[in-house]
Amino acid sequence: MHKPRSVLLLVITLLFIANHSWAQKGPEELSLKSAFSGKFDIGAALNLKQIYERDEQAAALIKAQFNSITAENCMKAMYLQPKEGEFNFKDADRFVELGEKYGMQLIGHTLIWHSQAPEWIFIGKDGKEVSREVLIERIRKHIHTVVSRYKGRIKGWDVVNEAILDNGDWRQSKFYQIIGEDFIELAFQFAHEADPDAELYYNDFSMSQKGKREGVARMVRKLKVKGVQINGIGMQGHLSLDYPSLADFEASILAFSSLGVQVMITELDISVLPIPGPSQGAEVSTNYQYDQVLNPYGEGLPVEVESKLANRYKEFFALFVKHHDKIDRVTLWGLTDADSWKNNWPVRGRTDYPLLFDRNYQAKPFVRELVEMAKE
Ligand code: XIL
Repeated sequence: MHKPRSVLLLVITLLFIANHSWAQKGPEELSLKSAFSGKFDIGAALNLKQIYERDEQAAALIKAQFNSITAENCMKAMYLQPKEGEFNFKDADRFVELGEKYGMQLIGHTLIWHSQAPEWIFIGKDGKEVSREVLIERIRKHIHTVVSRYKGRIKGWDVVNEAILDNGDWRQSKFYQIIGEDFIELAFQFAHEADPDAELYYNDFSMSQKGKREGVARMVRKLKVKGVQINGIGMQGHLSLDYPSLADFEASILAFSSLGVQVMITELDISVLPIPGPSQGAEVSTNYQYDQVLNPYGEGLPVEVESKLANRYKEFFALFVKHHDKIDRVTLWGLTDADSWKNNWPVRGRTDYPLLFDRNYQAKPFVRELVEMAKE
C-alpha cells in the first residue's frame, strides 16, 4: 500500500538532488562558452596567479567556461615598458602561451591609456614634458614593439582606452594635451602597421551615458571617414544593481553597431555594494576612505540582494542574447568574486560579489538560467 508513495518520494528526492546539485557540480557540467557559442565569445580577465596556473581550481574553471581571455594588468604599458627601451615581456608571453595552449581567443589590453602608463613616457631627458614629436615617437615605438611581438597571435587589441569623458568631451590626458586628438588616430595606425590582421578596438566605461555615447560615436565616425581601421567598440560594463538603465545600455549597443563596428562587452561585473560618491563610472583614480557602512556584506550576501544580482545578470544577458548579431564577445572582469578588483575599488578592503563564480569557484545558482537562456 505504501509502495507508490515511497516511489513518488524517491522520484521527488532524485529530482530535487538533480536540480540542486547543478551549481555544486564540477565545471565540466556547465559551460558558458558552449552555451553561448554561435552567439558571442565568453571571456574572462586573468590575473598573474591564473596566468601562471598557480591555482588549479581556477585553471579548471577557465578551461571549461571561457573561450577568450584578456590580461587584467600585465599588458598595460607601465608593466611592458617600465623604463624607456626596457621591455618586460615575461608575464605577457606567459599569458599568450596559456591562451594558445587552451585554444582561446586572446585580447590585448591595452596599448594607450592615461592610467597605468609609465611616467617616463611624458618626461624628457631634461626633466620637462616632452614635445609632441617625441611623444608620438615613443607611442610608435611602444605600439610597434608590443604588437609586432605577438603578430598573428592576438585576436584584437584595445588600442586606446578611456579617451572620452562622460559628457563627450576629450579627456585632458597627457596624451591629449601633448599630441592633441590625433593621438587616437596615430595609435590605431601604428597598431595596424604592426599587425595588419589584428582587430583594433576603442574601449571605455560608462558607455551607456548619452554624452559619452555621442562623443565616442563622433570620434569613431571621424576615424572611419579618414580610412583608419577600427573594428570594434568595447563597452566596459562595470555595472551596479541600479545603474545604468537597460534602455540606455541598449541605446549604446545600437548606436555603436550602426557605425559599422562590432560591439563587445569587455569588462563585465555587477557590484552589489554602496557607491560612496556621485560618480557611477569606473574612473580608476577615484578612491574613498573605508567605512564599515560601505561594506555591509562581509559575512555573506543576503538572499534578497543575491536575488537582485541574479535578476540584473539575467536582464543584461537577455539583452546581449537579443543583440547577439551585433555583439562579438562578453568578457567578465575576473573569474571568481575573490579575484575581483571591485573588492578594492573605489574603496579598499570590501567584500563584493560582482562575478558569476563565488569564492568557492562554484557557479552562482542563476548562472544555470543564463545558460538556459542561451539555448532558447
Ligand atoms: C583594473 C584592474 O582590474 C586592477 O587590478 C588594477 O589595479 C587597475 O585596473 N578599466 C580598465 C581596466 O580598462 O584595465 C581596469 O582594470 C578597470 C577599469
